[in-house]
Amino acid sequence: MHGSVIVRTLPAILAACAFAVACGADTNDATDSLTPAPGPAPATSTAPPSPTGTAAAPAVPDGAAVYQQYCAECHGVDLRGTDKGPSQLSIIYEPNHHGDYAYRVAIRDGTREHHWWFGDMPPVEDITDLEIEKVISFIRAEQQRLGFEQ
Ligand code: HEC
Repeated sequence: MHGSVIVRTLPAILAACAFAVACGADTNDATDSLTPAPGPAPATSTAPPSPTGTAAAPAVPDGAAVYQQYCAECHGVDLRGTDKGPSQLSIIYEPNHHGDYAYRVAIRDGTREHHWWFGDMPPVEDITDLEIEKVISFIRAEQQRLGFEQ
């Protein structure tokens, strides 16, 4: 009587294994035939930086991408500055000292060297008003997230 339990479960286990193998084979086949699909999908999701956008969604600029495109060269990919411009995490740029208005003006008109020794900041060319708002939001969020430094 006891033995029969094992005898009965064994085929079930074997069946499950066979099923799993079959399943695995199916999945591989499916993956092979769909190989091009997973490729383009992530590419579209990183596409918003492109000003052209996609047909599916209106081109809402992504602040992080705008930052990387227009500001990172001088202010650093991590906001911590380069030899061409100061860190955006400097306490100098906290909102009460450099409000969003100061950002808009600096981006549109550039700014003379006055806090640092990097030279002048030239006006940022070809940036839209919407991109400016997005990049300011991005920088403010990063300042909040990372905290200010001296
Ligand atoms: C070609 C280099 C360069 C680029 C590109 C650049 N900046 Fe600057 N930026 C500077 C320098 C240099 C200063 C420091 C001027 C000083 O105070 O001595 C500065 C200062 C600033 C200031 C402070 C302005 C003020 O009133 O003191 C802000 C805000 C700023 N940048 C934001 C940005 C943003 C946002 C971008 C991108 C949209 C950007 N910058 C792109 C070089 C650059």
